[in-house]
Amino acid sequence: AANVTGIDLTIPSQPAWSEDDINKFREGRDSDITVGSIYAWLGHNNALQWFLKSGLETALILEDDVDWDIQLRSLQVPLAANAARSMLSPSRYLSRFKVDPTHYWGDTSAWDLLYLGHCGDYFTAVDHGVGRGHQYKENLTSIPHKLFKDPSLPARRDLHPYTAALFDVFELPEQTRAFHRSKFPLCTFGYAVTRAAAEHLVNDLAPIAKLKTSKSKGSHAYDVSILKACRNGFDTPSPTPENNPHPHPDPKLRHKYASPGLRCWTLNSEIFHHMPGGSMIAQVEAQKNHFVGIPPVDRVGAEQVVQRGETSNIGCGFWRGAFRFDDGDKKRLAYLQEEVGRKGRCLKEGRE
Ligand SMILES: *[C@@H]1O[C@H](CO)[C@@H](O)[C@H](O)[C@H]1NC(C)=O
Ligand SMILES: *[C@@H]1O[C@H](CO)[C@@H](O)[C@H](O)[C@H]1NC(C)=O
Repeated sequence: AANVTGIDLTIPSQPAWSEDDINKFREGRDSDITVGSIYAWLGHNNALQWFLKSGLETALILEDDVDWDIQLRSLQVPLAANAARSMLSPSRYLSRFKVDPTHYWGDTSAWDLLYLGHCGDYFTAVDHGVGRGHQYKENLTSIPHKLFKDPSLPARRDLHPYTAALFDVFELPEQTRAFHRSKFPLCTFGYAVTRAAAEHLVNDLAPIAKLKTSKSKGSHAYDVSILKACRNGFDTPSPTPENNPHPHPDPKLRHKYASPGLRCWTLNSEIFHHMPGGSMIAQVEAQKNHFVGIPPVDRVGAEQVVQRGETSNIGCGFWRGAFRFDDGDKKRLAYLQEEVGRKGRCLKEGRE
């Protein structure tokens, strides 16, 4: 998928975690955190550590089972980044700062985490319900947000039922995405972080080391820690003015972290979503006679995924191998890169 789309991925090697790593992680936490969940947590932490060592300014962390649209690079990213820049330049607060055109995703001091791949930001927990009577148009219009057209977004009837219900309530026109401050983002399929945010996560917000205060038992899953961090960061404006109304509580850490949590933004709907299929975490759990069911959001989308032959909320993706090529087949890859990746032709039966 990356070759056809024309993007470059780095795959940091993951250590073989030992029983000892698992036990250490468990110390001082809720004992019912599952092994699968710990593996995922250690893996994300390892990727963040890799990023911090790399010297890079920002990183997009992708889980290894995500799908995306063939127009990710040619259309979706330019449109989403444009929306991000329009919201995330310090000039929105401080006129003496000029918009820095070298910051493709907006000034990196203005945000902590961009949620580009998630199983939904439905503004409240999904068990509270999604759609009319549960969310209101003002829930979106009262928070910082930017709407933009994206012709690669599936038609409303083809969006995940929850996404469609949310967008109906928000009265979003067809093929319109919203870039907004995160309210209740779930799952960590794809998220971008700055260096400060990665450090904050590794050291405080989602650490793997023994928790400093035993009264906080931590979260059951890595994505829940991030959700909490985003919620704790919601009151810190992004970008953040010098006179920050909601700074980090520790004066010694204020120069480092703008917020007690993270200043998160959600791209709704997402441009990365995990593919249907088996899960290594579920396999690990099954060996321990703990059977992991399909997560609730996936269950609601399952029938539509089969009927569309596409991953949830993805218009023309790579699931089911439509754009596969053999390893040495340079000719076919060149053809796919040009016609599918660059021109955005969905060369699948009955699709063009
Ligand atoms: C696909 O991309 C990877 C990473 O850039 C590269 O190493 C590999 O050679 C590419 N495959 C082909 C067939 O071009
Ligand atoms: C959504 O808006 C309603 C009506 O204004 C309000 O009662 C509710 O608390 C809001 N929910 C969230 C999650 O902001």
